[in-house]
Amino acid sequence: MIDKVRVAVVGVGNNTSALVQGIAFYRETGSEVGLSRPQVAGLGVGDIDVVTAFALSADKVGRDLHEAIFQPPNNFPRLGASLPPSGVTVQRGLVDMAEAPRVASALDGAEVVLYSAPSGRTGTARAYAAAALEAGVAFINTTSDSIARDPEMLRRFEEAGLPLLGDDLASQFGTSVLHRTLLRLLAERGLTLVSSYQVNLGGTEDFRNLAENPNTKKQSKLNAVGSDVVQMAPLGYLPQLGSEKIAHLNIEARGWGETSVSLDVKLKVHDPSGAAGVNIDLIRLAADALRSGRGGYLSEAASLLKSPPGTPV
Ligand SMILES: NC(=O)c1ccc[n+]([C@@H]2O[C@H](COP(=O)([O-])OP(=O)(O)OC[C@H]3O[C@@H](n4cnc5c(N)ncnc54)[C@H](O)[C@@H]3O)[C@@H](O)[C@H]2O)c1
Repeated sequence: MIDKVRVAVVGVGNNTSALVQGIAFYRETGSEVGLSRPQVAGLGVGDIDVVTAFALSADKVGRDLHEAIFQPPNNFPRLGASLPPSGVTVQRGLVDMAEAPRVASALDGAEVVLYSAPSGRTGTARAYAAAALEAGVAFINTTSDSIARDPEMLRRFEEAGLPLLGDDLASQFGTSVLHRTLLRLLAERGLTLVSSYQVNLGGTEDFRNLAENPNTKKQSKLNAVGSDVVQMAPLGYLPQLGSEKIAHLNIEARGWGETSVSLDVKLKVHDPSGAAGVNIDLIRLAADALRSGRGGYLSEAASLLKSPPGTPV
């Protein structure tokens, strides 16, 4: 029997809730609905154990992980799987580099760090990456902060033989993948793009944060779409949407005889589900690479990320 992957999560927000609940759901039901890859390198979705968790909020630190994931402002719904106490007590995370050694000691026994804190705090992301390097653990950066795109950081992970996957996860069926696919189809069918835009509205804490601090996210979304013609409207935070996100995509093009073609699409998804559906694959890719001694970036993760190494910061 294959050894389960031992994961440390940084941030006990909506995406961690969707991941932890989803693993329990798939273990309990045996369902394969909504999974892009039931197996990765012989690892099933249920072969992941979260063994360590870090948070900052007083409502989460010191609680069992299976209670902490339901504390506000998390608003991802309950999936209904049974979640008895996990035995993992959420630990206090770090806020600066001076605390990296403490976090590195707490990573003892973990194989993969899933970095799932708010985007836009590059110093914090770097401190957790330094802790992972010190502890000899693979690192996945799901945020839009530049970690895998930082050549010096990437070199350190390569030299240590530790996988580094990032930056910024590309949701399983989100705006970026849909927009990029439609633009590719347009080009494949010989149409000429004239203009295009995206509007994203959501009710999660992540949306609130990104609406207030758009910083690194806008460039990362453009990297994912792969066209500099696309205009990104500022993200809109609407609490009544809960964990659902609504995206509107518009594409204006010219076809035969330069006549107009216009496309409008509305997408409605649970944003944390889109993240969990990809994080489960990133974790298994990172664990497999770690176990087979492959360090640095893994090209097979490219479709799961918005901003892999070499894309603009
Ligand atoms: N589809 C998606 O949801 C999606 C797609 C791409 C990227 N992301 C990124 O994934 C990340 C996680 O998203 P989320 O919806 O779970 O966000 P969230 O805001 O619900 O959760 C982040 C959690 O991290 C905690 N935190 C803050 N600072 C911390 C620290 N120093 N140490 C430990 N914990 C800390 C926060 O208190 C919060 O509970 C975000 O950076 C988001 O931009 C999400």
